[in-house]
Amino acid sequence: GISLKGRDMIELDEYSTEEIQFLLDSAIELKRKQKNGEVYQPLKGKTLGLIFEKSSTRTRVSFEVGMFQLGGHALFLSKNDIQLGRGEPISDTAQVMSRYLDGIMIRTFGHDNVINLAKHASIPVINGLSDMAHPCQVLADLQTVLEHKGKLKGLKMAFIGDGNNMAHSLLIGGAKMGMHVAVASPEGYMPDEGIVKLSEEIAAQTGGKITITHDPIEAAKDADVIYTDVWASMGFEEEQAEREAAFADFQVNEELVKAAKPDYLFLHCLPAHRGEEVSEGVIDGANSVIFDQAENRLHAQKALMVALMA
Ligand code: CP
Ligand code: NVA
Repeated sequence: GISLKGRDMIELDEYSTEEIQFLLDSAIELKRKQKNGEVYQPLKGKTLGLIFEKSSTRTRVSFEVGMFQLGGHALFLSKNDIQLGRGEPISDTAQVMSRYLDGIMIRTFGHDNVINLAKHASIPVINGLSDMAHPCQVLADLQTVLEHKGKLKGLKMAFIGDGNNMAHSLLIGGAKMGMHVAVASPEGYMPDEGIVKLSEEIAAQTGGKITITHDPIEAAKDADVIYTDVWASMGFEEEQAEREAAFADFQVNEELVKAAKPDYLFLHCLPAHRGEEVSEGVIDGANSVIFDQAENRLHAQKALMVALMA
């Protein structure tokens, strides 16, 4: 069988297609258990630290609740309330926390912080969002698409918007699962070239495909999944006006989704800004699965925590 015990989750490229499929199957099974009211506590006595350098609704609540449901305990550690915020090195933080905890989740700006924490910690480190990646979100996203479409391989997933953390993890996670991932971003907001190259290499092995374009209609054409995210991510708030101008032609609205398959799914990691990156009609329309997707953060991360920590 597959064992992921002791591993980190920094980005999905470190995981094989089979390992990701294992996590998705496990998430679906844990969801079934929870809906049936079955108590399942393989993390009894275990603790997970949650370091947050940025705001969060879904990530914080789903990790805290997930840990509780699995019989363990989660500690919310706002960066400004721990010595890390006063300059204690991340390497010392990692080593100290490794003496108390069974795992650490970190949400931070610099992706290097996640890598450094994992390098110096002797316990699993989970990336709860960095400026480069959001793998936990993409596990939930893949679970959601799998539940609604019955498969992942061969489906076309279009991401329309900022080529940053969400685009990157969707490129890698989608490629791993043999999907066609199409990203449409404006000039100056294209996904990282190294990530694009990596996702192309992965897709070549899995039968997936990568399309990178400036044309939202090309990306959306015949798509099974249309995905978008905010135009100004956390840390980029002061660029709001400039980004509204740059992304003006990249709104996911009734006109754009005409290019997609009639039974396309609309996904958004949330939080969303109706009337900016997505029209109200699309995000609140019949094809939108945003709340299934948000719910699946809980199930997917429970699967991840059990796999890494039990
Ligand atoms: N999608 C997501 O990670 O949401 P939060 O910022 O609320 O955690
Ligand atoms: N791209 C967004 C995702 C939030 C979950 C951000 O980084 O703010």
